[in-house]
Amino acid sequence: MVEPISWPDVERLIAEASSTEQLKQFRVAWLGKKGWITAQMKELGGLSPELRRVRGAELNTLRNHVATALDAKQALLEDAAEHEKLLRETLDLTLPGRTPVAGLLHPMTRVRRRIEDIALRLGFSLAYGPQVESEWYNFEALNIPKGHPARDMQDTFFVDVPGLVLRTHTSPVQIRSMQDRQGALPVKVFAPGLVYRRDDDATHVPMFQQVEGLWLDRHISLGDLLGTLTEWVGELIGPEVATRFRSSYFPFTEPSVEMDVGCAICRGSGCRICKDTGWVEILGSGMVHPAVLKNGGYDPDQVSGFAFGMGMERVAMRLFGLDDLRLLYQNDLRYLERFQSGGDAV
Ligand code: PHE
Repeated sequence: MVEPISWPDVERLIAEASSTEQLKQFRVAWLGKKGWITAQMKELGGLSPELRRVRGAELNTLRNHVATALDAKQALLEDAAEHEKLLRETLDLTLPGRTPVAGLLHPMTRVRRRIEDIALRLGFSLAYGPQVESEWYNFEALNIPKGHPARDMQDTFFVDVPGLVLRTHTSPVQIRSMQDRQGALPVKVFAPGLVYRRDDDATHVPMFQQVEGLWLDRHISLGDLLGTLTEWVGELIGPEVATRFRSSYFPFTEPSVEMDVGCAICRGSGCRICKDTGWVEILGSGMVHPAVLKNGGYDPDQVSGFAFGMGMERVAMRLFGLDDLRLLYQNDLRYLERFQSGGDAV
């Protein structure tokens, strides 16, 4: 049973309340469905009409006073809480701001994108192949028979599953692209991607990136190879770059040629980087070997074409002036940040 209350008591209790929680309890105890004033109202029915009128008016007045006082105190407490919160939350506008760290693309990503951009402009599409590749695609299909030195344990990472290797070059994508086109012409692709070899020194890392190019059609000649590669390398490195082609040997091209660019360090006079030749090798290429065309499902009597493969880190070294390409992959931001604005248009 709720204790009888009088206005002075109520007024004092409300004034002393220090939390809105307390006010809520009062509201329930006095004005709620089972509250004291409500209970008193219910008893009015048993009184004489005379008393009922007087007592009823009294209770009404009391109820209004209580409700008003509770509301007023509630507003007061809420204001005080808000005020205190604002005081606690003051901002120190003199604190230095936090500069957001702006990310930047890895130099190799920028080189790859630049290569891809140029390829697309020259009308090539992009193609991809798996990094764990079958020996057939990586070697046999490219006219590299079993026992050929290029498959030697020293060059290749073999995988526990027999018949699979980490691809040693992007050239298997030549075969895959021909098969994808199912005899249609032209086949005109650039295939960038990771390749793996057991090499590790200042100019070789065991995992590196190549880009393969393949253009097959009727009547593609060595002249197309020379013209396309000269144009492409000019776009990539700069039109003023000196270039030359040397005859070479790859089992999957005939004839084979390597392309050199003038040494960026000594500009041709001879230095350590170019081994005193004035030239640096940039890519291997050649006319696609008839056996390779057959393995890709094309008739060497009807179709000819050229292919080339380029190591992208060498291009990065050239564009960014690096002398140790291993540093590219140590992910030391202090090193990588140096190339934020290097390489001019890269
Ligand atoms: N695959 C060769 C290499 O890794 C490069 C190459 C590609 C040569 C295409 C000729 C034609 O060295």
